[in-house]
Parts: sequence; C-alpha cells; structure tokens
Amino acid sequence: MSELSYIMIIILLAAALLVVLADSRNPKKTGKKKTGLKTGIIGAMDSEVSSLKEAMADRKTSSVSGMEFCEGTLDGHDVVVVRCGIGKVNAGSCAQLLINLFGVDRVINTGVAGSLDAAIDIGDIVVSTDVVQYDFNLTPLGFVPGEMNSPAVKSFLSDEGMRKSVVKAVRESAPEIHVFEGRVCTGDQFVSSREKKESIRESFGGLCCEMEGGAIGQVCIMNNTPFVIIRAISDKADDSVEMDYAEFEKAAAARCAAVTRYMITH
Ligand code: ADE
Repeated sequence: MSELSYIMIIILLAAALLVVLADSRNPKKTGKKKTGLKTGIIGAMDSEVSSLKEAMADRKTSSVSGMEFCEGTLDGHDVVVVRCGIGKVNAGSCAQLLINLFGVDRVINTGVAGSLDAAIDIGDIVVSTDVVQYDFNLTPLGFVPGEMNSPAVKSFLSDEGMRKSVVKAVRESAPEIHVFEGRVCTGDQFVSSREKKESIRESFGGLCCEMEGGAIGQVCIMNNTPFVIIRAISDKADDSVEMDYAEFEKAAAARCAAVTRYMITH
C-alpha cells in the first residue's frame, strides 16, 4: 500500500472515531434532556443543598461574601449550587451574585417551609406560582400589604415553564408525594404561632411560609431571570412547630433537593 493510502485510512479512522464520540454525547441517545441552561440553585441551609453538591461533577468552589458557590455539572447539566444562609438579605444578595458573577440563566430556590393551609401536610411539596414578602408594608402610603413601589408589583411571578417542569418531576419521580402549586409567603421570621400563621394566610392567601423565596424572586424579576421556588413542608407553622421541625426538617430538605435534581436533569 502506498503512503497516501495509509494516510487516507488514518484520516477515515479518526473521522469515524469523532462521529462515535459525538453520538455518545448526543442527549437523545443518552436519554437525557439537555437544556443548555446554567441553573443557579439556592438553599438557605446545608441540609437543603448538601446532597446536590455531593452529586455534582467537575466541581469548582469559590467563596464570595461569605457564601460558597459550587460550580459544576449535575448529571451533565451546568449548575451553581450555593447555601445562602437564612433570611431575605442573604438570599437576595446570593441571587444577585449568581446572576452577575456566575452568569446563571435561571434560579431555583429549594428548601423547607411551614404549611399555611390545612390541606397541605408535612412532606408535601409546594411549587410557587408567585411569591410575596409578607413583612413588606407600605399600607400607610396607600399600598396593599406586601405591595412594592419599586419594582411596582404586588407579588413576584415565577416562571410558568419551570413550575410545570417541577410538577412533572414530582409526578414522575415520586408520585406518592402530594404537590401543590400556589403562592409562597416570605418574611424574616420563623412562624411558630397560630395567630401569625392565620394573619399571613388571611392577608396573602399563600400555601406556605419561609424566609428566602421572596427576596430571590425580587432579584430575579429585577434582572429578567426566570425563577421558581420548590419547598417541602417541614412543619405547620403553628404551636407544634418546634417538635415537627426538629423531626422532619432533614428529610423534607432532602426530598426537595431530589425533586430539584430530577427537574433539572429530565
Ligand atoms: N421554614 C420552615 N418552617 C418555617 C416556618 N415555620 N417559618 C418560616 N420559615 C420556615
């Protein structure tokens, strides 16, 4: 065989290898849906994000403003997972950093919450249609409770596509879990009395209360970034809160993280 024939054979073999490699990464062939999106995932506490961080590949960690941002992939999908700490200021700053420094295309807030609705039990999942900051109050100036002047909204609307994907994720991955779609109520307070719970429920009609989603929603809306809040119920936000929270917080946080992972990777 001539030297030219050898070169031709080598070129053909290399081309064939490239085709095989490209095909093995084809999401249709691997059964994985590739969104091409970079998703920021925020949890307030370690229990809400640790299983996601452990499941990540190609991990690179950087510390900004006292928060550890963990960049990498989750079953082949680009993610940045971060524990923001409890409360609205932590959560809002974290969302802004995810958008500005890490260039995420969308944000998911995963974690636990107290139920505001008698039909929603411990272990159930709530997915946000919208989120309101129940402790934001300009009523003396003529606004309704929770209404803001800048941005001028009564609540922050979640992304419909992301919400539907979460509901689908729960139905496919854990059909035994009850999933509810509705308003999430956020405030810088751990709700632990029947009176407080009823006053939030009466004023805002929400399904659950927590301490971060409203700030994440606000920052996402201000930056034109889609977001959704996924919360598993750890307590009833009333006088039974202390016992229930201690018993169910870890399992609820892990359940929510599992739904988040399934939603991103399917
Ligand atoms: N997160 C979980 N339970 C909560 C509650 N009862 N109030 C505020 N945030 C919560």
